[in-house]
Amino acid sequence: MSELGVGVIGGGSTYTPELIEGFIKRREELSVSRIVLMDIDKERLDVVGSLARRMVERAGVETEIVLTTERQAVLEGADFVVTQIRVGGLEGRAGDEKIPLEFGLIGQETTGPGGFAMALRTIPVMLDLAREMEALSPDGWLINFTNPSGLITEALNRHSQVRAIGLCNGPITMRNRIANALGVDGDCIWLDYFGLNHLAWIQRVFLGGRDITADLLAQIAKTPGQTGLLDFDFDKTLIAALGLIPSGYLRYFYHTDRVLEQMQRADRTRAEVVMEIDRELMALYKTPDLREKPKVLEQRGGAWYSAAAVALISAIANDKHEVHIVNVPNRGALKGLPDEAVVEVPALVNRSGAHPLVIGEMPLAVRGLVQAVKAYEELAVEAAVTGSREAALLALVAHPLVPTADVAEKLLDRILEANRVYLPQFERG
Ligand code: G6P
Repeated sequence: MSELGVGVIGGGSTYTPELIEGFIKRREELSVSRIVLMDIDKERLDVVGSLARRMVERAGVETEIVLTTERQAVLEGADFVVTQIRVGGLEGRAGDEKIPLEFGLIGQETTGPGGFAMALRTIPVMLDLAREMEALSPDGWLINFTNPSGLITEALNRHSQVRAIGLCNGPITMRNRIANALGVDGDCIWLDYFGLNHLAWIQRVFLGGRDITADLLAQIAKTPGQTGLLDFDFDKTLIAALGLIPSGYLRYFYHTDRVLEQMQRADRTRAEVVMEIDRELMALYKTPDLREKPKVLEQRGGAWYSAAAVALISAIANDKHEVHIVNVPNRGALKGLPDEAVVEVPALVNRSGAHPLVIGEMPLAVRGLVQAVKAYEELAVEAAVTGSREAALLALVAHPLVPTADVAEKLLDRILEANRVYLPQFERG
């Protein structure tokens, strides 16, 4: 087992202790000599980094935790670089969630116009980082958690040479939810899963080799309200007709009106709630007695993110030939999408990377939605890279949650204005 160097861009995130815990848990199979935490916010970095050091010390793991505000220090010779940045911070997210609501549209961190604004701010920063990584650690792997994860991974694959794999806790959370409902270990469950990041479905579930999809669908059909198998109260007739288990993010498409009404009635956006959790977490992290991941962190949506990241890193480093659900270029896995389009599918992971498994045809009932959202994503990436207003407008027009070109035009003006300091690429023309 070789000694690995891991870098974390956005290491001052309150999620970082979760990642550290993941490495501690897998210490038998993954020997990490150095974890370099990098953040532009030194104060946060010091607080989170000190907790990381206490955790490692308490676990008796010999991993050096290095703190830095310099990106180069992370990238030089890193075997794995985990990216978890939020360009514009939580204030930026609050804007992404509020602006679409002004137009009567879903305001969400990664889905719809909110995710679009986040992608415009974030893609140039991630491509900059990728360029540095190409020079400083060309053999390293970039494991991307930065949202909107699918779009960022699409940009990295299309516009850099870096070896990037996009990751989300969504698939592992869906798997573990099913395992919990059945009272079995997550590892016993195998998902036949397809789609895009935050736009995915499970088409078959296997337990110890047995296809239990029909049993699960029957259980969903007969349980009133939201069942433990789903993370939203999807319409039961819809689920039965689809014969698929949707990711919770499909609520924005299948039940737009219901969700919009909830959003409009809420006195705070999710970003504002998260700001409060974040303040609470930072205060806790400052407590010198705290030497493990605190329970409050479970109030965030990123459950299991470290399990997904560390298992993926181990599969690459140990050449495991394991199957992980990741975001990678399609290359024929899903029929009806371009080869270069990044999709979220099971992939065989070994030392040479993540190789998507062939899924084939998507069910007709969802194919059009996936194709439409992918077209939006491709246009959004083009807009973020070129600063083309036309591409940006076409991206919004292509998005199924944006009703008309008239709305798209006004929405775009509003987004570009509100995010001006983060969007120099749009100033050129
Ligand atoms: C889920 C998604 C992540 C997202 C998170 C938001 O885990 O898969 O992509 O970042 O939810 O959680 P939050 O606590 O920030 O609302």
